[in-house]
Amino acid sequence: MTSSGSDKTQNQKLLAWVDEIAALCQPKDVYWCDGSEEEYDRLCQEMVDGGTFIRLNEEKRKNSYLCRSDPADVARVEHRTFICTPNEEDAGPTNNWADPAEMTETLTGLFKGSMRGRTMYICPFSMGPLGSHIAHIGVEVTDSPYVAVNMKLMTRMGQKVLDVLGADGDFVPCLHSVGYPLEEGQQDVPWPCDADNKYIVHFPEDRTIWSYGSGYGGNALLGKKCLALRIASSMAREEGWMAEHMLILGLESPEGEKTYVSAAFPSACGKTNLAMLIPPEGIDGWKVWTVGDDIAWIKPGEDGKLYAINPEAGYFGVAPGTSYETNPSAMDTLHSNCIFTNVAMTDDGDVWWEGMTDEKPAHLIDWKGNDWTPDSETPSSHPNARFTAPCNQCPSVDPAWDDPKGVPISAFIFGGRLSRTFPLVFESFDWEHGVYMAATMGSEATAAAENQAAIRRDPMAMLPFCGYNMADYWQHWLDIGGKLADPPSVYRVNWFRKDENGKFMWPGFGQNMRVLMWIIDRVRGKVEAVESPFGRMPLHDDIDWHGMDFDTETFYQLMEVDREAGKAEAADQKTLFDSFKDRLPEAMERQRKNLIDRLEGAPEVWHMEH
Ligand code: OXD
Ligand code: MN
Repeated sequence: MTSSGSDKTQNQKLLAWVDEIAALCQPKDVYWCDGSEEEYDRLCQEMVDGGTFIRLNEEKRKNSYLCRSDPADVARVEHRTFICTPNEEDAGPTNNWADPAEMTETLTGLFKGSMRGRTMYICPFSMGPLGSHIAHIGVEVTDSPYVAVNMKLMTRMGQKVLDVLGADGDFVPCLHSVGYPLEEGQQDVPWPCDADNKYIVHFPEDRTIWSYGSGYGGNALLGKKCLALRIASSMAREEGWMAEHMLILGLESPEGEKTYVSAAFPSACGKTNLAMLIPPEGIDGWKVWTVGDDIAWIKPGEDGKLYAINPEAGYFGVAPGTSYETNPSAMDTLHSNCIFTNVAMTDDGDVWWEGMTDEKPAHLIDWKGNDWTPDSETPSSHPNARFTAPCNQCPSVDPAWDDPKGVPISAFIFGGRLSRTFPLVFESFDWEHGVYMAATMGSEATAAAENQAAIRRDPMAMLPFCGYNMADYWQHWLDIGGKLADPPSVYRVNWFRKDENGKFMWPGFGQNMRVLMWIIDRVRGKVEAVESPFGRMPLHDDIDWHGMDFDTETFYQLMEVDREAGKAEAADQKTLFDSFKDRLPEAMERQRKNLIDRLEGAPEVWHMEH
């Protein structure tokens, strides 16, 4: 299996780096992934033989596998995630910082011999369509075949990437080891990892990533959160573009007019469901097209508009809660060629997870490999169990999802999970106000007492993913707007407001289409909006209610702004702003004060006139 690589690429920087890493990690073999189907099948079969993968029933899930991770390695490890900038201030208060030289020394110690007894896989990948001017190339060197096959689904991976890279092309070096070397004669385990010692480390200055000790998701598939968000956000700032934790979708009207929007929600807030939304009954002739479900790379074009690509080629979605009710397109994407991690297995060799069907199967093997029945006390799937699925299997995948030019973005949407204070939707007054709306977004953290949950701020849904000081990131957003002829409008949405009895006021899911349609009407200048202290809002009559009863009074209650609650919100935002000290852009505090002024001039309960 050993190969020197010079028959694969003439890129001297890459060849030298691979040699250097092989000398450090001391693998048994070095293998250059070509990205072919034959290779994918072979690596999967090797994992079946080694006990890491279980092949699922070919009739039910064609060419698909189940994998169970070590129970100590099931999610991203934010407290072990580091941004190593020479100056601590440049990482900012929302990131874990470590000194680059000290961290390099620590990691060099850990990686020394970390791949003994294992194969080192070289996975060249492109984030974004091959050759797109918005795309970038990375090379992940890993000792995990699980990572190699997931990278094949999640990115454009293999020889074709080396061909585009050429002799002089640049790439982001991404080094990964599960941290479980095998000594002579030592038996491997199905999910090797270092149970106690994990490091997910980013060096934005050198544009490199080192990840040690975990084999799971965003810790190990380094193209995703590490490159496409943390390192890319820092590259984007230097180069004048944007790397965002956003889905991208296209809305097509019955007349065939298509409008693309990008939307950010904190992790596990249903981004995949929104990206694949099916219009509800009554909304005839409209269609939602999916470009991406998690990450958007966005560049100003020469025409002064913003163009976005989905840098990924697959979905790494949360399985529990996904069903034909909540997301039929995702369910139809999962029929074949998928990898399922930490879900339950049915007696006929298929997969199941909580929420997939109303009726629970009478017997399952749970994610830890134990017998499970509906009487069991623990869930059958881990709550962060995942599917890895190719984008091109999604029935709603946009014909332009792979277009190197990207798609033009007409609006940015930001949302959190908020039971109070925030109406269903409002629009920014201008770009600066929109950046402020996005910067202050968040979700309620659970609290003992109802209505007292504190808001966990998650600016632009980038809290765990911004590779530099968040205040500088806001300034970058402000600067980008200044460069655009007509910056997209910004919207805040909240599907989760509750009434005084604790009941959700809005049904959500497919009905969210109606809100998206209003946004499109606004973008296209088709409807007026009403000014509220928070921003511009829709009149009842300007929402399409075909197929749904939602009377004017209930709608206006959903849109109410409570003066004191608004002021408490503005006061709470100050804590976030103060943490950035003098790095905070003045515009943010100006916008916060403007909100307070608008609230002070408003009635106790601002209610839409009708
Ligand atoms: C994800 C996340 O996995 O945001 O997409 O955590
Ligand atoms: Mn995400």
